[in-house]
Amino acid sequence: MTTGNTHAPIERNMAMELVRVTEAAAIAAARHMGKGDKEMVDQAAVDAMRLTLGSIAMDGVVVIGEGEKDEAPMLYVGEEIGDGHDPQVDIAVDPIDGTTLLSKGLPGAIAAIALSARGAMRVPFQFAYMNKIAVGKAAKDVIDIDAPVETNLRNTAAAMGRSVEELTVVVLDRPRHDRLLAEIRSAGARVKLISDGDVAAGIHAALPDSGVDVLMGIGGTTEGVLTAAAIRCIDGAIQCKAWPRNDEERQAALEAGVDLEKVHTTTDLVGGEDVFFAATGASTGDLLRGVRFFPNGVETQSLVMRSRSGTLRWIDSLHDFSRLNKVLYKE
Ligand code: FBP
Repeated sequence: MTTGNTHAPIERNMAMELVRVTEAAAIAAARHMGKGDKEMVDQAAVDAMRLTLGSIAMDGVVVIGEGEKDEAPMLYVGEEIGDGHDPQVDIAVDPIDGTTLLSKGLPGAIAAIALSARGAMRVPFQFAYMNKIAVGKAAKDVIDIDAPVETNLRNTAAAMGRSVEELTVVVLDRPRHDRLLAEIRSAGARVKLISDGDVAAGIHAALPDSGVDVLMGIGGTTEGVLTAAAIRCIDGAIQCKAWPRNDEERQAALEAGVDLEKVHTTTDLVGGEDVFFAATGASTGDLLRGVRFFPNGVETQSLVMRSRSGTLRWIDSLHDFSRLNKVLYKE
């Protein structure tokens, strides 16, 4: 596989350090579960992520964050993070994917972060939404986002040694997917609708024997890049294509010279040999258990991955605040 890597290998498993960042974000955000305030959930996660990220030895630049510098004081695109020492890395964050889920106390919100060598993440910021198809290793060579839905499902099923009727396709529950859903159903596959959170859903679909086999449909562009980073580690595949929301966006993209027909593959979105990904459950979902509170402590569950080794770790952690606060805040 050509991934366009021109960087020195990153020898350290940085995902093992990133998990502390997603744990902190998930714990901070989970305190506000069900309060009906998605901004509060997001802000708590951002603050915790920024604090813990700053302590990692690296020369990092945020390539996916909370927005441009003038609209986001922390974790803005272009912000330099780390102690300035090698390795030089790109950082993509989604402090909470599924802020609405968590604010309503619904399942499936996660804190997520991805890291690659500098310049290896290529984020097509010119459009906010992309059409996506994601699968695991068995079907990674047979998907084609330009092919009919039925063809993709038939080929995926064959690659996985199943019938189409035995496939489960996860799709965001949105009116824009009415036609897609009709096509999936007429092909005979099972459907799992989710109200939010297509990063966790894409990862879940790419993991073997997870009960979900394919992610299809339109979701956020930045979420697509984070999903691609995770899928690099799992050795599955994602393909994405720009999805302008209206004629105005289509026209603006064309005037900016954007090729709306370009298929963005997994390695187009996240290249290089060294990709690291960590996610921690905020509210319990199919992929991860959410934060559970105890007197003076919490339990978290995280998924930690590295592309070079292909090691996937599920990490259950117990955090004892009576001692942790002394370490973190010198209380
Ligand atoms: P937020 O947590 O940032 O609100 O994103 C949730 C999410 O469901 C993503 O997982 C998904 O890619 C995107 O929103 C879909 O956007 P929309 O809700 O506009 O259809």
